Amino acid sequence: MSALRQRGAGPVGVSIVGSTGSIGTQAIEVVRAAGGQFRVVALAAGRSVELLAAQAAELQPDLVAVADAEAAVELKGRLPAGTELAIGPQALLDAAGCAEIVLNGVVGFAGLPVTVTALRAGRRLALANKESLIAGAPVVQAARATPGAEIVPVDSEHCAVHQCLARSLGSDPGAEPGAAGSPPAAHRSLRRIVLTASGGPFRGRRAAELAGVTVEQALAHPTWQMGPKITVDSSTLMNKGLEVIEAHELFGVGYDAIEVVVHPQSIVHSMVELSDGATIAQLSMPDMRLPIGYALAYPDRLDHPFGSLDWSQVSRLDFEPPDLDTFPCLRLAYQAGRAGGSAPAWLNAANEVAVTAFLEGRIAWPAIADVVAATLDGYDASELVEIEDVLAADAAARRIAAAAVARRGR
Ligand SMILES: NC(=O)c1ccc[n+]([C@@H]2O[C@H](COP(=O)([O-])OP(=O)(O)OC[C@H]3O[C@@H](n4cnc5c(N)ncnc54)[C@H](OP(=O)(O)O)[C@@H]3O)[C@@H](O)[C@H]2O)c1
Repeated sequence: MSALRQRGAGPVGVSIVGSTGSIGTQAIEVVRAAGGQFRVVALAAGRSVELLAAQAAELQPDLVAVADAEAAVELKGRLPAGTELAIGPQALLDAAGCAEIVLNGVVGFAGLPVTVTALRAGRRLALANKESLIAGAPVVQAARATPGAEIVPVDSEHCAVHQCLARSLGSDPGAEPGAAGSPPAAHRSLRRIVLTASGGPFRGRRAAELAGVTVEQALAHPTWQMGPKITVDSSTLMNKGLEVIEAHELFGVGYDAIEVVVHPQSIVHSMVELSDGATIAQLSMPDMRLPIGYALAYPDRLDHPFGSLDWSQVSRLDFEPPDLDTFPCLRLAYQAGRAGGSAPAWLNAANEVAVTAFLEGRIAWPAIADVVAATLDGYDASELVEIEDVLAADAAARRIAAAAVARRGR
């Protein structure tokens, strides 16, 4: 069970890593709304000086950590008395170990050391940064076995699964670690996880119609306001592919028992099917503050609601299978997940390289999947025991992906 203190025993300390991003800023809204239930002990981000200064002035944390050294110079002298400034990628690790709950809202592979440090310190990890779990799974799973450590997912789909399992089976999902470096054993009554996908901005379009889509079109998500990387991942369905691997690692369910359905309304956030045939779903408005608040308050519930469904407006809930021909990234993610070992690290690295190239206008949208496929074609398996092994696998994949981008560049 959760090792967090009971409610009423004073505010619970929270470290928000990635505080300047979409998840981080919404986490601060949750802390504000919870009215004294939590205290922000540390803030950490990459380089957004103005926002960090404003957040520190409001929240008066003990520590502000900035990864970018030049940004940190600008921030010096702008923090409240009593707030320490830590600088460089290593400084993020101070923020990752210094509170009862660590919210990892960093985007991409850069979040890996934060995840591992928080778990090794025996903290609750409120995990938004799915890339760290996917790329570094064996190392993260080993760290998860640290006494006191637990992962409560922030990704809305996995938060939904967590809620369904916690409420219907009375278990603490994922609390029982598996063999060293492996996912936990799935609950014996859990038959299937059904992850819902909004379908992104290009739902219903065919591959031929998507050759020339612009960055602006890919960033126009119909239901969620998110950072650019995850928004592009949603447009290719790679986000759902990453979430399939994330679900496997969080809940120990095999890939054949993880299904994806497209649900354009984004109201059913995911479902579990149990051994007696019952399907349990979690429904709510599409608002990330709910899963963030859940991950902070679990096993309690926040008293503050984030949206309430108006059933007079919800006239229908649609479900359809994903189109794997138009969105091959989802299939590639299943392949990498099933291969296991360092394959998900390669998938993730290739995707990050390809998405960056797309956002910078260097490749077309369909080339994202091509770059990932070409990188996986060159996959060279390696064992991931230490964090350095994950860094090496990531670097090897990035080299191949960069060459694939160069071949497809425009
Ligand atoms: N946004 C959502 O609704 C949502 C939903 C589900 C899951 N997630 C997951 O949550 C994570 C964050 O997504 P997001 O949409 O919040 O991203 P975002 O808006 O782009 O924010 C990213 C955050 O990470 C920080 N960061 C970037 N590179 C860093 C580095 N090298 N070192 C330290 N900090 C760094 C940024 O700091 P600076 O801006 O100061 O550089 C910023 O605070 C992703 O893994 C995403 O998949 C997000």
